[in-house]
Amino acid sequence: MRILFVADVFGPAGSRAVQSRLPELRDELRVDFCVVNGENAADGRGITPKLADRLLASGADVVTLGNHTWARTEIQDYLATSERVIRPANLGSGLPGSGLAVAPAADGTAVAVVNLLGRLFLDPAVTPFELLDGLVEEARRRAKVVVVDFHAEATSEKIAVARILDGRVTAVLGTHTHVQTNDARVLPGGTAAITDAGMTGPHDSVIGVEADLAIRRMVTGLPVRFSPATGDVRIEGVVVDCDADGRATACEAVRVSVD
Ligand SMILES: [Fe+2]
Repeated sequence: MRILFVADVFGPAGSRAVQSRLPELRDELRVDFCVVNGENAADGRGITPKLADRLLASGADVVTLGNHTWARTEIQDYLATSERVIRPANLGSGLPGSGLAVAPAADGTAVAVVNLLGRLFLDPAVTPFELLDGLVEEARRRAKVVVVDFHAEATSEKIAVARILDGRVTAVLGTHTHVQTNDARVLPGGTAAITDAGMTGPHDSVIGVEADLAIRRMVTGLPVRFSPATGDVRIEGVVVDCDADGRATACEAVRVSVD
């Protein structure tokens, strides 16, 4: 089975890139299952029900989120009932939505997707390490193929989680930093991993934001309203191949220019 993971979709340019290019990219790469991180789809922060539906209609089987999950209030009711759009499991108990989805691949094989938020710099209500074992066990009860989107800031934490889960899941794919790392690999136990899958959106920017605005805020320390950039749009992510038992056999970073 071949899984395509599409890294953080940023703003209108990222959403448009997915809508215009993902359907044919799925065919070109012979993809059986596709996960899209949509946590920056709405102008760089969060996602709306409409944008989530568009990602699903464009070929995402499951959409994952991250630290900006609650940026758009209208997503709360949507997450409460959606089986395909999930948010980090460790945002706190009693909140709408789930951190685990199970959906069929093209041939009907069940694929589980888990979404967790890193502890370092993102300060989730519960550390990912408290939930990791339970979530992965539940995912494995329901599917042989398990993909983990670990949305985290620190390279060390992302590598640590990949090592912890090596041999227990198909892939541990890092998201959130928007800079694709050059370490796509299959770990000794059969788990595919990359520290960060990159960004689907405008790369002529500071991680998606218009560069002059991001720079002005950094240099002056004054509040500056951010706008999503528009230039050098790419789809970035990872392609993972695995066998019928869910063991990864290949892991390769993907970068496709859209404009
Ligand atoms: Fe993020």
